[in-house]
Amino acid sequence: MKYMGSKNRIAKYILPIMLKYRTPEMTWVEPFVGGANMIDKVEGKRIGADFNKYIAEMWKQLEAGWMPRKDYTKEDYYDIKNNMERNLAETGYLGIAVSYCGKWWGGYAGLCDTKSMGLVDYQKQAYNNLLKQLPNIKGIEFVHSSYDELELPPNSLIYCDPPYEGTTKYKDSFNHTEFWNWCRQKEKEGHIVFVSEYNAPDDFYCIWEMEIGSSLSANGKAGSRKQSIERLFTPMAAIADKERGLF
Ligand SMILES: C[S@@+](CC[C@H](N)C(=O)[O-])C[C@H]1O[C@@H](n2cnc3c(N)ncnc32)[C@H](O)[C@@H]1O
Repeated sequence: MKYMGSKNRIAKYILPIMLKYRTPEMTWVEPFVGGANMIDKVEGKRIGADFNKYIAEMWKQLEAGWMPRKDYTKEDYYDIKNNMERNLAETGYLGIAVSYCGKWWGGYAGLCDTKSMGLVDYQKQAYNNLLKQLPNIKGIEFVHSSYDELELPPNSLIYCDPPYEGTTKYKDSFNHTEFWNWCRQKEKEGHIVFVSEYNAPDDFYCIWEMEIGSSLSANGKAGSRKQSIERLFTPMAAIADKERGLF
Protein backbone atom coordinates (compact mmCIF):
# COMPACT_ATOMS: atom_id res chain seq x y z
CA MET A 1 0.00 0.00 0.00
CA LYS A 2 1.23 3.45 -0.88
CA TYR A 3 2.81 4.77 2.29
CA MET A 4 5.11 7.57 3.34
CA GLY A 5 8.44 5.84 3.97
CA SER A 6 7.39 2.66 2.12
CA LYS A 7 10.12 0.08 1.63
CA ASN A 8 8.48 -1.41 -1.45
CA ARG A 9 11.29 -0.30 -3.77
CA ILE A 10 14.13 -1.71 -1.69
CA ALA A 11 12.43 -4.93 -0.55
CA LYS A 12 13.97 -6.85 -3.44
CA TYR A 13 17.45 -5.97 -2.21
CA ILE A 14 17.18 -6.31 1.55
CA LEU A 15 14.70 -9.15 1.93
CA PRO A 16 16.99 -11.84 0.49
CA ILE A 17 19.71 -10.72 2.92
CA MET A 18 17.46 -10.97 5.97
CA LEU A 19 15.72 -14.15 4.92
CA LYS A 20 19.06 -15.99 4.83
CA TYR A 21 19.05 -15.82 8.63
CA ARG A 22 15.48 -17.00 9.13
CA THR A 23 14.93 -20.61 10.04
CA PRO A 24 11.53 -22.21 9.29
CA GLU A 25 10.21 -21.93 12.85
CA MET A 26 11.13 -18.24 13.26
CA THR A 27 8.38 -15.65 13.41
CA TRP A 28 8.95 -12.61 11.20
CA VAL A 29 8.13 -9.57 13.32
CA GLU A 30 7.69 -6.02 12.02
CA PRO A 31 7.09 -3.61 14.88
CA PHE A 32 6.70 -0.66 12.42
CA VAL A 33 4.52 -2.28 9.78
CA GLY A 34 3.07 0.90 8.16
CA GLY A 35 1.88 0.08 4.64
CA ALA A 36 2.96 -3.58 5.03
CA ASN A 37 5.25 -3.25 2.03
CA MET A 38 7.93 -5.56 3.37
CA ILE A 39 5.94 -8.13 5.36
CA ASP A 40 3.65 -8.77 2.36
CA LYS A 41 6.63 -10.35 0.58
CA VAL A 42 7.44 -12.75 3.40
CA GLU A 43 5.88 -16.15 4.02
CA GLY A 44 5.17 -18.17 7.16
CA LYS A 45 4.42 -16.97 10.67
CA ARG A 46 4.33 -13.16 10.76
CA ILE A 47 3.41 -10.41 13.19
CA GLY A 48 2.93 -6.81 12.03
CA ALA A 49 2.45 -4.05 14.57
CA ASP A 50 2.01 -0.32 14.44
CA PHE A 51 1.50 2.41 16.99
CA ASN A 52 -1.11 4.05 14.75
CA LYS A 53 -4.32 2.37 15.94
CA TYR A 54 -6.20 3.20 12.73
CA ILE A 55 -3.60 1.57 10.52
CA ALA A 56 -3.33 -1.47 12.79
CA GLU A 57 -7.11 -1.88 12.77
CA MET A 58 -7.27 -1.39 9.00
CA TRP A 59 -4.86 -4.27 8.48
CA LYS A 60 -6.65 -6.48 11.01
CA GLN A 61 -9.96 -5.90 9.25
CA LEU A 62 -8.54 -6.30 5.76
CA GLU A 63 -6.91 -9.57 6.78
CA ALA A 64 -10.30 -10.73 8.07
CA GLY A 65 -12.06 -9.92 4.78
CA TRP A 66 -13.31 -6.33 5.17
CA MET A 67 -13.10 -4.16 2.07
CA PRO A 68 -13.17 -0.38 1.85
CA ARG A 69 -15.35 1.33 -0.74
CA LYS A 70 -13.88 2.20 -4.15
CA ASP A 71 -15.45 5.61 -4.45
CA TYR A 72 -14.88 7.91 -1.49
CA THR A 73 -15.60 11.52 -2.41
CA LYS A 74 -13.74 14.53 -1.12
CA GLU A 75 -16.74 15.15 1.19
CA ASP A 76 -16.47 11.58 2.55
CA TYR A 77 -12.75 12.13 3.07
CA TYR A 78 -13.21 15.18 5.27
CA ASP A 79 -16.25 13.73 7.01
CA ILE A 80 -14.16 10.70 8.04
CA LYS A 81 -11.24 12.93 8.99
CA ASN A 82 -13.60 14.78 11.33
CA ASN A 83 -15.03 11.54 12.78
CA MET A 84 -11.96 9.35 13.07
CA GLU A 85 -13.32 7.05 15.79
CA ARG A 86 -16.47 6.02 13.87
CA ASN A 87 -14.77 3.24 11.90
CA LEU A 88 -11.08 2.85 12.73
CA ALA A 89 -10.27 0.66 9.73
CA GLU A 90 -11.90 3.06 7.28
CA THR A 91 -10.11 5.98 8.92
CA GLY A 92 -6.83 4.10 8.47
CA TYR A 93 -7.55 3.39 4.80
CA LEU A 94 -8.52 6.93 3.86
CA GLY A 95 -5.71 8.33 5.98
CA ILE A 96 -3.10 6.67 3.79
CA ALA A 97 -4.48 5.03 0.64
CA VAL A 98 -6.78 7.91 -0.34
CA SER A 99 -4.27 10.54 0.77
CA TYR A 100 -1.72 12.36 -1.33
CA CYS A 101 1.59 10.43 -1.54
CA GLY A 102 0.42 7.98 1.14
CA LYS A 103 1.07 10.73 3.67
CA TRP A 104 -1.15 10.42 6.74
CA TRP A 105 -4.18 12.64 5.97
CA GLY A 106 -2.01 14.49 3.47
CA GLY A 107 -4.99 15.64 1.37
CA TYR A 108 -7.63 13.88 -0.76
CA ALA A 109 -6.18 11.85 -3.61
CA GLY A 110 -9.10 10.91 -5.86
CA LEU A 111 -9.46 11.76 -9.53
CA CYS A 112 -6.85 14.43 -10.25
CA ASP A 113 -6.05 16.50 -13.28
CA THR A 114 -2.26 16.40 -13.16
CA LYS A 115 0.05 18.62 -15.20
CA SER A 116 2.34 15.83 -16.36
CA MET A 117 -0.03 12.87 -16.80
CA GLY A 118 -3.48 14.39 -17.34
CA LEU A 119 -6.37 12.76 -15.49
CA VAL A 120 -5.15 10.24 -12.90
CA ASP A 121 -7.47 8.30 -10.62
CA TYR A 122 -5.29 7.87 -7.55
CA GLN A 123 -8.06 6.27 -5.53
CA LYS A 124 -8.61 3.62 -8.19
CA GLN A 125 -4.87 2.94 -8.30
CA ALA A 126 -4.82 2.55 -4.51
CA TYR A 127 -7.77 0.18 -4.57
CA ASN A 128 -6.23 -1.93 -7.32
CA ASN A 129 -2.93 -2.05 -5.43
CA LEU A 130 -4.83 -3.23 -2.38
CA LEU A 131 -6.49 -6.03 -4.38
CA LYS A 132 -3.03 -7.22 -5.41
CA GLN A 133 -1.64 -6.97 -1.90
CA LEU A 134 -4.50 -8.71 -0.07
CA PRO A 135 -3.61 -12.34 -0.83
CA ASN A 136 -0.12 -11.66 0.52
CA ILE A 137 -1.25 -10.43 3.94
CA LYS A 138 -3.42 -13.47 4.71
CA GLY A 139 -2.38 -15.10 7.97
CA ILE A 140 -0.46 -12.11 9.36
CA GLU A 141 -1.26 -11.29 12.98
CA PHE A 142 -1.71 -7.51 13.07
CA VAL A 143 -1.36 -5.79 16.41
CA HIS A 144 -1.85 -2.27 17.67
CA SER A 145 1.19 -1.66 19.86
CA SER A 146 4.20 0.50 20.41
CA TYR A 147 7.33 -1.44 19.43
CA ASP A 148 8.59 -1.53 23.02
CA GLU A 149 5.40 -3.13 24.34
CA LEU A 150 5.10 -5.75 21.65
CA GLU A 151 5.19 -9.37 22.83
CA LEU A 152 7.62 -11.38 20.75
CA PRO A 153 7.75 -15.15 20.29
CA PRO A 154 11.18 -16.54 21.33
CA ASN A 155 13.85 -16.41 18.61
CA SER A 156 12.01 -14.06 16.30
CA LEU A 157 13.49 -12.29 13.32
CA ILE A 158 12.71 -8.61 13.88
CA TYR A 159 12.78 -6.17 10.97
CA CYS A 160 12.50 -2.56 12.16
CA ASP A 161 11.59 0.32 9.89
CA PRO A 162 11.18 3.09 12.46
CA PRO A 163 10.57 6.78 11.81
CA TYR A 164 13.93 7.96 10.50
CA GLU A 165 15.89 10.33 12.67
CA GLY A 166 15.60 13.91 11.46
CA THR A 167 12.63 13.41 9.13
CA THR A 168 10.01 16.14 9.38
CA LYS A 169 6.90 14.22 10.28
CA TYR A 170 8.26 12.51 13.31
CA LYS A 171 10.81 15.09 14.47
CA ASP A 172 11.20 14.99 18.25
CA SER A 173 8.29 12.62 18.83
CA PHE A 174 10.28 9.38 18.65
CA ASN A 175 13.04 8.60 21.13
CA HIS A 176 15.81 7.16 18.96
CA THR A 177 18.19 6.46 21.85
CA GLU A 178 15.58 4.29 23.54
CA PHE A 179 14.89 2.55 20.26
CA TRP A 180 18.55 1.58 19.69
CA ASN A 181 18.73 0.34 23.31
CA TRP A 182 15.66 -1.79 22.72
CA CYS A 183 17.35 -3.33 19.64
CA ARG A 184 20.45 -4.17 21.69
CA GLN A 185 18.23 -5.74 24.35
CA LYS A 186 16.30 -7.84 21.81
CA GLU A 187 19.56 -9.18 20.41
CA LYS A 188 20.63 -10.19 23.92
CA GLU A 189 17.31 -12.00 24.34
CA GLY A 190 18.14 -14.19 21.35
CA HIS A 191 16.25 -12.48 18.52
CA ILE A 192 17.75 -11.60 15.16
CA VAL A 193 17.51 -7.84 14.59
CA PHE A 194 17.67 -5.76 11.42
CA VAL A 195 17.00 -2.03 11.12
CA SER A 196 16.38 0.25 8.14
CA GLU A 197 17.72 3.75 8.78
CA TYR A 198 19.99 6.33 7.24
CA ASN A 199 22.40 6.20 10.19
CA ALA A 200 22.94 4.18 13.36
CA PRO A 201 25.12 4.20 16.49
CA ASP A 202 28.68 2.88 16.08
CA ASP A 203 27.96 -0.56 17.56
CA PHE A 204 25.49 -1.29 14.74
CA TYR A 205 26.93 -2.70 11.53
CA CYS A 206 25.84 -1.48 8.11
CA ILE A 207 25.39 -4.58 5.94
CA TRP A 208 23.77 -2.98 2.86
CA GLU A 209 23.41 0.48 1.39
CA MET A 210 22.05 2.10 -1.74
CA GLU A 211 21.47 5.65 -2.93
CA ILE A 212 17.81 6.12 -3.60
CA GLY A 213 15.28 8.92 -4.20
CA SER A 214 13.12 9.24 -1.13
CA SER A 215 9.86 11.07 -0.53
CA LEU A 216 10.77 11.70 3.11
CA SER A 217 14.43 12.25 2.76
CA ALA A 218 17.46 12.94 4.88
CA ASN A 219 17.06 16.67 4.37
CA GLY A 220 13.84 16.37 6.36
CA LYS A 221 11.50 17.77 3.70
CA ALA A 222 8.51 15.53 3.05
CA GLY A 223 7.75 15.25 -0.65
CA SER A 224 11.17 16.40 -1.82
CA ARG A 225 12.98 14.01 -4.11
CA LYS A 226 16.46 14.36 -2.68
CA GLN A 227 18.72 11.36 -3.03
CA SER A 228 19.37 9.59 0.27
CA ILE A 229 21.39 6.57 1.21
CA GLU A 230 19.17 3.80 2.50
CA ARG A 231 20.98 1.44 4.83
CA LEU A 232 20.32 -1.83 6.60
CA PHE A 233 21.91 -2.30 10.02
CA THR A 234 22.27 -5.11 12.50
CA PRO A 235 23.76 -5.20 16.01
CA MET A 236 24.96 -8.76 15.31
CA ALA A 237 28.67 -9.11 14.61
CA ALA A 238 28.34 -12.64 13.23
CA ILE A 239 25.89 -11.51 10.54
CA ALA A 240 27.98 -8.42 9.79
CA ASP A 241 31.10 -10.55 9.27
CA LYS A 242 29.27 -12.76 6.80
CA GLU A 243 27.57 -9.96 4.88
CA ARG A 244 30.52 -7.58 4.76
CA GLY A 245 32.49 -10.17 2.93
CA LEU A 246 29.82 -9.92 0.24
CA PHE A 247 29.37 -6.14 -0.12
C1 LIG B 1 8.67 4.25 7.94
S1 LIG B 1 7.06 3.76 8.44
C2 LIG B 1 7.04 2.02 8.06
C3 LIG B 1 6.81 1.77 6.58
C4 LIG B 1 6.70 0.31 6.20
N1 LIG B 1 7.92 -0.43 6.42
C5 LIG B 1 6.31 0.16 4.74
O1 LIG B 1 7.15 -0.28 3.92
O2 LIG B 1 5.17 0.49 4.39
C6 LIG B 1 7.18 3.81 10.19
C7 LIG B 1 5.92 3.36 10.95
O3 LIG B 1 6.23 3.35 12.34
C8 LIG B 1 5.05 3.67 13.07
N2 LIG B 1 5.45 4.08 14.42
C9 LIG B 1 5.90 5.28 14.86
N3 LIG B 1 6.21 5.22 16.17
C10 LIG B 1 5.98 3.94 16.57
C11 LIG B 1 6.14 3.23 17.80
N4 LIG B 1 6.57 3.84 18.89
N5 LIG B 1 5.83 1.92 17.83
C12 LIG B 1 5.36 1.29 16.72
N6 LIG B 1 5.18 1.90 15.53
C13 LIG B 1 5.49 3.21 15.46
C14 LIG B 1 4.36 4.74 12.23
O4 LIG B 1 2.98 4.78 12.50
C15 LIG B 1 4.68 4.25 10.81
O5 LIG B 1 3.64 3.46 10.32
